[in-house]
Formats: sequence, C-alpha cells, structure tokens
Amino acid sequence: MNTSCKVLPDKIKNVIINEEEIKLKVQETGKLISSEYAGKPLLLLSVLKGAFIFMADLCREITIPCEIEFLKAQSYYEGTESSGEVNIKIDIDKNLSEYNIIIVEDIIDSGRTLSKLYEMIKEKNPLSLKVYTLLDKPERRVVPFEADKSLFIIPDLFVVGFGLDCNEQFRNLPYIAEFGE
Ligand code: IMP
Ligand code: MG
Repeated sequence: MNTSCKVLPDKIKNVIINEEEIKLKVQETGKLISSEYAGKPLLLLSVLKGAFIFMADLCREITIPCEIEFLKAQSYYEGTESSGEVNIKIDIDKNLSEYNIIIVEDIIDSGRTLSKLYEMIKEKNPLSLKVYTLLDKPERRVVPFEADKSLFIIPDLFVVGFGLDCNEQFRNLPYIAEFGE
C-alpha cells in the first residue's frame, strides 16, 4: 500500500479513538506519573513533531514539578509507507544524567525510531528511562521494542490526528482516525 495523501478529507475514514477516550487515558496516565515520580527530578522528553499534542495534554495532567524537552525524529515516508530510515536530532543543553526521563512518543510502528532513540538517551546515563506512547501497533514491529506504557494498542492501520500526520496534514484533528482508501 502506498497511498499518496495530499489533502483528501474523504480519505479520513472512521474515528477509531475519540476525544473523550483520549482525555480519560491521558488523565489516568498523568495521575500515574504524578504518584510514581513524586519527589524525583522528572524530565518529559517528547518526540517532534507527532507527539506534540500528546505531550501538551499529558504534561498538564501531571501535578508534580517536571521539566520538558523536545527532540526531533524523522522517519522518511512516501505517503503511508516508511522507508526505514530514521534521523534523530538531539539539541538539549541539560545534563540528562540528573533526571528520571520519560520519552513521550506518539506511536510505535516498526520500532526503529524508539529503539534507536532509547539507546541514544540511555548513553547519557539518566537516573531512569521509560517510554510512554499514545499508540502502539505491535503487529508492525520490525525491530523488537516494548514501551513501558502504551495508552492504546491499535491494529495495523495507518492513522492520523492528535498530532499524527500524513504528508504533514491532519495533525490538528482532535481524534485518531483511520486514513486510507
Ligand atoms: P517507527 O516505525 O516505530 O519507527 O515509527 C516511526 C514514526 O512513524 C512514528 O513516530 C510516527 O511519526 C510515524 N508513524 C508510524 N505509524 C504511523 C501512522 O499510522 N500514522 C502516522 N504516522 C505514523
Ligand atoms: Mg513520532
């Protein structure tokens, strides 16, 4: 499947996760983090661009002090098909070894991005390192990788919305929808 997707709203199929479902899970996750990391230096490290909305909502459900950083990871896509090439740019002027770090990601698909990113951050010797992902498509793994928390496990579908794009579009949809023919 190689779907070209330049502004084709008719290709937005059914909503698979609605706003209310996302909100409840994000609230629950914020509470969990707030109790687990109370009294510990916490850094939320989000992966641009896809995770920007998840990060914005999640950090506002966290009631303990925390810091926030972003890095950029890019997988090259032709429509909905990944090339397998991952480019990660880290430009953080903090000493990461002083923090408990949670990587906040939008989706785990092949596992390539997170397995590479996880190793890159691990090398900085954080106090602890966990991965929280909004969505997880375990059927699609090429590289074995398991998140510490996946808010929603979804089937092998290409999805957009809530930060996720197809050719840079549809990130602004407030829900997760299936995209395709
Ligand atoms: P990976 O294949 O696990 O390395 O995932 C790489 C990146 O591909 C994710 O962080 C997303 O940005 C993007 N991606 C994977 N699946 C989807 C999808 O269904 N919709 C939109 N983006 C996706
Ligand atoms: Mg991503």
